[in-house]
Amino acid sequence: MLKEIFEQPTTIYDCLRGRLDAAAGTITMAGIQQYADQIINANRIVIIACGTSWHAGLVAEYIIEDLCRINVEVEYASEFRYRNPVINKGDVIIAISQSGETADTLVAIESAKEKGAIILGVVNVVGSSISRASHAGAYTHAGPEISVASTKAFTAQLTVLMMIALKVGYMKGTLSSDRYRRLLNELDAVPEKAAWVLNHHDHIKAIAEKYKDARDFLYLGRGYNFAIALEGALKLKEISYIHAEGYPAAEMKHGPIALVDENLPVVFVATKDMYHEKVVSNMQEIKARKGKLLAVITEGDEMSKSICDDVMIVPETDEVIAPLINVIPLQLLSYYIGVAKGCNVDMPRNLAKSVTVE
Ligand code: M6R
Repeated sequence: MLKEIFEQPTTIYDCLRGRLDAAAGTITMAGIQQYADQIINANRIVIIACGTSWHAGLVAEYIIEDLCRINVEVEYASEFRYRNPVINKGDVIIAISQSGETADTLVAIESAKEKGAIILGVVNVVGSSISRASHAGAYTHAGPEISVASTKAFTAQLTVLMMIALKVGYMKGTLSSDRYRRLLNELDAVPEKAAWVLNHHDHIKAIAEKYKDARDFLYLGRGYNFAIALEGALKLKEISYIHAEGYPAAEMKHGPIALVDENLPVVFVATKDMYHEKVVSNMQEIKARKGKLLAVITEGDEMSKSICDDVMIVPETDEVIAPLINVIPLQLLSYYIGVAKGCNVDMPRNLAKSVTVE
């Protein structure tokens, strides 16, 4: 798992390579290009996936709606396949899967296909069942992911989904040329920024030692970072067996805040974005209730640093691109907590790498 976490600057670079040309201002994705008109004119996009891939879909929902002004719904494949979803001809389905063999996702796309939907696969394993069942799509090129907990496949999925959103938004005219160019440059700079975060792993290891005996964790984030809070909580559960929940930060007052006491570490994904002020006020509410406050924050954000017990610092980037970098310290935190507790982080109990059964 550690090897795969540390491969991310390379895997993100490999995913961008041959597609994104920041100097020329172009994104080349043949599979997407082929269905560009249908995507641009889609009434809605439905994203189907499971687990970590579902979290990538949730980040994509926020980005596609923002940049492309297309209605997006994100569905758990296991729910989608058994209910009777409304699929209209011309709906575009994006199926996300690392393995390309997840039974729930595969069956869900087969049934959507029968109803006339266009299926785009965002898949890691070349030639897998989901890639073959899709009309088109884009491979994530993360290389083989062996560890059960998905890390580099997730950031590669986000990279592909961000490129799709940028390309479609620009072609559709909902994303201005200036912002498009700025986001291309930011995406291009992610491998370097991911490497910067990884170089600070010792600091995160020390934080893990400090909190490894906690019984529960709460992860909070808003907007683009809401799904990153969910992913942080899932990763911790999977490999350390500590109970962890992720919530939209503003939702905590509707229930989860009752859990907060001096024993509960609360991890905020609190990088600088349009929600930042509100997130800081959510952090203050946790502090007032004596919760242990941890946060992923932007380099130079001294104010957030001053109210937290511990911080994981990431370099500044555009808020649309930030989830791609913000998840990395949370992967490291889970990894080091799992190791400190003596867990088999590569093969956690009760889990399989590909879930090919219902
Ligand atoms: O291969 P897939 O991306 O379709 O797998 C989906 C989930 O089973 C997977 O993401 C699972 O949640 C991972 N263990 C997460 O780390």
